[in-house]
Amino acid sequence: MDTADGTSTTKTDKAMSERRVLRVLAGERLWPPPVWMMRQAGRYLPEYRATRAKAGSFLDLCYSPDFATEVTLQPIRRFGFDAAILFSDILVVPHALGQKVWFVEGEGPRLEPIDLVRPGLEPDRLLDRLKPVIEAVSRIRGELPRETTLLGFCGAPWTLLTYMIAGRGTPDQMPARRASLIDSVGVDRLVDVLVDASIDYLAAQLVAGADAVQIFDTWAGVLDDAGFRRFVIEPTRRIVEGLRKRVPGARVIGFPKGAGGHLPAFVRETGVDAVGVDWQASLDFVRSAIQPLAPVQGNLDPLYLVTGGKPLDAAVDRILERLGEGRLVFNLGHGITPDGAIANVERMLARVRDAGGR
Ligand code: CP3
Repeated sequence: MDTADGTSTTKTDKAMSERRVLRVLAGERLWPPPVWMMRQAGRYLPEYRATRAKAGSFLDLCYSPDFATEVTLQPIRRFGFDAAILFSDILVVPHALGQKVWFVEGEGPRLEPIDLVRPGLEPDRLLDRLKPVIEAVSRIRGELPRETTLLGFCGAPWTLLTYMIAGRGTPDQMPARRASLIDSVGVDRLVDVLVDASIDYLAAQLVAGADAVQIFDTWAGVLDDAGFRRFVIEPTRRIVEGLRKRVPGARVIGFPKGAGGHLPAFVRETGVDAVGVDWQASLDFVRSAIQPLAPVQGNLDPLYLVTGGKPLDAAVDRILERLGEGRLVFNLGHGITPDGAIANVERMLARVRDAGGR
């Protein structure tokens, strides 16, 4: 079957037509909408915690094709989501570029902050070091049900450089914002390295069997208008363009979290196939200003998966009512948190899927 916009030449076989997330990314409206969850493999799952304990460190988990395959498949086995997302982390890219990266239990990532004058990165070694991750992609594709879309991903340059410059997560990304103003040349050079690395890495994932890729820009929302264009729109546009030169017809989901009123420009100017929206976005705005431009993915507040009950049902219904007439991949507005309840995930899924009969 041909994709809705007729542009894909390679994705025409039957298996592709069964992958419902991929069909929406290609421009179709499906009812009920396909559904998956950001961070669907994670600490809210006992089977994830068990594998994580066996693997040792978090990076060992990311770099073991066996363990990464296992945890990617866990939420598919348990819930039957329409898409699997490769289990890895956005920070394997700085790590594979040669920066020191480690994870502190209960706190989060730590990096040795980069020296913008002499970054000392090794882009030539990137793909060699990421081989186990690419190996995981092909194993996962081999083990997934045929109808499950496989998503690869990377962190967007801006979000990566907030961690690379600060050496850790910060509440307001002040170190990277400050550097972008006082060492503009150094930051632009780093963006260039990350754009090229992202193209190499995403192309390798697609070649290994990912059906589409998502670019996570978690900290897009802290920039002013000029910063958003320079560090979010422009690098994303270059990645999408470079990737499609390597892999014709490559499908890309952009997720510029906190983009708000920048969303229409982001979609129009980057060339992404679909856009992820956070839960703060106005559903009326998304429906009238974004869905006509591109399929939308989102945007349940993950907090409802902690609290559950009628408020969860009502929140799911609002999204289905407001966005269901357009092209939609049902998802969260950000990743599920470790205190999300499995029963609430089941309840959300049943509600989305039962909507097909309503
Ligand atoms: O979605 C998925 O299931 C795929 C796996 C995935 C992880 N991280 C696993 C992970 C993905 C897509 C990411 C993306 C990621 N990583 C982002 C962008 C999206 C977002 O959530 O904002 C960012 C900013 C990171 C960096 C990162 N990794 C942080 C800030 C942390 C610590 C916070 C936390 O939740 O612990 C991580 C660790 C991490 N990445 C965990 C998981 C399952 C938890 C670590 C553990 O199991 O010990």
